[in-house]
This record gives sequence, C-alpha cells and structure tokens, in this order.
Amino acid sequence: MGIMELIFGDLNKKEVRKIEKTVDIIESYDEAMQALSDEELRAKTDEFKARLKEGETLDDILPEAFAVCRDGAWRSLGMKHFRVQLIGGVVLHQGRIAEMKTGEGKTLVATLAAYLNALDGHGVHVVTVNDYLAKRDAEWMGRLYNFLGLTVGCVIHAVEGEKRRQQYLADITYGTNNEFGFDYLRDNMVTYKEELTQRELNYAIVDEVDSILIDEARTPLIISGRGVDSSSMYRNANSFVKTLTKEADYKIDEKDNQIALTDDGVKICEQYFGIDNFSDPDNMELNHYVQQALRANYLLKRDDDYIVKDGEILIVDEFTGRLMYGRRFSNGLHQAIEANEGVKVRN
Ligand SMILES: Nc1ncnc2c1ncn2[C@@H]1O[C@H](COP(=O)(O)OP(=O)(O)OP(=O)(O)O)[C@@H](O)[C@H]1O
Ligand SMILES: [Mg+2]
Repeated sequence: MGIMELIFGDLNKKEVRKIEKTVDIIESYDEAMQALSDEELRAKTDEFKARLKEGETLDDILPEAFAVCRDGAWRSLGMKHFRVQLIGGVVLHQGRIAEMKTGEGKTLVATLAAYLNALDGHGVHVVTVNDYLAKRDAEWMGRLYNFLGLTVGCVIHAVEGEKRRQQYLADITYGTNNEFGFDYLRDNMVTYKEELTQRELNYAIVDEVDSILIDEARTPLIISGRGVDSSSMYRNANSFVKTLTKEADYKIDEKDNQIALTDDGVKICEQYFGIDNFSDPDNMELNHYVQQALRANYLLKRDDDYIVKDGEILIVDEFTGRLMYGRRFSNGLHQAIEANEGVKVRN
C-alpha cells in the first residue's frame, strides 16, 4: 500500500464512519415510512418545504428526507437505496465526489441529494455526459420525483425557446454540460431579464465527473459573434488541416481522444493564415475552427461516428448504433464535419 493510499485511505474511512451515523438515523425511519399511505408520504414533501421556511436547514431534515426518497423509490421504481447508496447520497449533498463502481446504481444515488436540495425551491441540475442519458434519467427517475410531488425537466439540444425555459423552472432539471454551459453563456449576452433561459444557479450534481470536469473541460464552450457567416471559416480551417502530415504537424492522444497541432503545425498554421501568433487571444476563434477541423478530419470516422446521407451529416449513437435524426454535434464540430465532407455548412 502506497503512502498516499495510506493517508487518503485512512481519511476516507474516517469520513465514511461519520456518514455511517447519519445513515443509521436514515434507516431508523424505515418502518415509520412504510406505515404511511402514498398520500401521506407525498405530503412529506410539503411538510419539509414548510419546515425549511420556518428556519430548519437542509442538514436538519436530511435523514428524514432521504428516508422519504428511499421509500418513494421503492413504491415508484421498485428499488430501495442500499446502504452504500445512502452513503453516496450524503457525500453528494456535502458537495463532494463519490467514487462508485460501474453498475452500482449512481442514477439512484443522485435522487437522494437531488430531492433534498430541490426542497427549498431554487432548482437542482443533474449533469449527464450525453443527451441520451439526460433523457433516460429524467424519465426514469422522474417517476420518483413526480410521485413525491416534484417536477422534472430535461434540457436536450432539440428543446428550444419557451419550452426550454420551462425545463429550467422544474424542481430538478437533467441535461448535459454542453447544454447547461451554452445556456449560461447565452444568458450572459441577453439585454432583458425576460430573455433569460436559466434561473438562478443553486445546486448541481455531476454524473461521470472525471469525464466532464477533466476530459470534456479541454474543449472550451465558445459562442461566436452574431451575424458572422462562419461557414467560410469552417471551410478555410478544413482546407488548412488537409495540408498537414501526421507525425510532424499534429499529434493524437488516443487515450483521451484529443488532437492538437505540434509546434511545427502551429508554424504552418501561422503562415497559412498570415498571423503572428496562433496562441494570441485575438486568434481564439481561429483556434476553435482549427481544433474542430482537426477532430473532423483525423479523429472522427465516417460510417462509425456519423454517416453522410442526402447531403446531411447524421450522428450514429455511440451506445445503440442508431441514427440520430435532427441531432447535431455541438460546439461547431458538426459544421467542421460538413466542411470536411463537402456538404452545405449549416448554422
Ligand atoms: N437499490 C437498488 N435496488 C435494485 N436495483 C438497483 C438499485 N440501485 C440500482 N439498481 C439497478 O442497477 C442498475 C445499474 O444502475 P445505474 O445505471 O444507475 O448504475 P451506474 O452506477 O450509473 O453505472 P454506470 O457506471 O454504468 O453508469 C440499474 O439497472 C438499476 O435499476
Ligand atoms: Mg451511470
């Protein structure tokens, strides 16, 4: 056992022991909860809301609220949170990271902290890695939240305008980091309060946190200026990356599925576009177009990741292999693929 593991392993154990005491209290409510009728169990949600208004804190009501959520899950989903799942729920509520193995039921764990934190009425976001999971979890866990009298929303790419705003008004909203992130950025550009899509930011749970906060964080979310026709930029960037030769000019990190220009590649790029310094903040947009062109040309595979049909790029779902009609890769990647495949570059 390494020294780090010794220290952190110990620390971890100590923290978990503290949480076990809370879990004992949660479990002590079990019989009382089972004795309630469905209506009485649902009425607990309003009772908690009232108690919060009268000054109790989320931590005060946590054990009882978790017990309500647990019994509600049993009645609406046929699943009752295991002890480790209750521990995970407390960890999430504390704003920490819970590491759980695949298949251990993280979707259900999140409901405990989501339910509790939604009770003060300021909204909860559950961040997933893709639209498919956002939709699946919102529908699946939505049965539990609805059963307990809370509303659920889901922000996916296809939901726009007023409907999108409605999703954010729900007690608990599922969505991807891209959707949440871009809505946040767009909200920072509006002139009137009425145009805002999101309401206040209160509490969020991130699923697959390593992927979202580390891997995905390498691709910044960028909104390009309005009214600019960017299709020519996508085509220019595409023509440029096609002049590159692999070893010398760009590097692929297979493990992280990342691609970047080498120093030589950067020099060629600066010459190609007639600029002094590719890294200069002034060239941030160009950076973005080149990055997406590199991905489109050298990382994504036609017929694996997408297909070209009737002049359109259709995404192939990575999980089910089905074609996702009407869906577009976000962040300009779709446009970069369109430029690469020589079809119309859409907005
Ligand atoms: N307390 C429970 N009782 C019964 N079944 C459960 C319970 N918790 C989870 N499950 C079941 O375990 C399965 C896996 O759950 P889930 O998809 O949430 O796992 P996960 O930890 O998110 O896994 P992954 O890392 O693959 O995303 C689901 O089919 C779910 O119904
Ligand atoms: Mg999962």
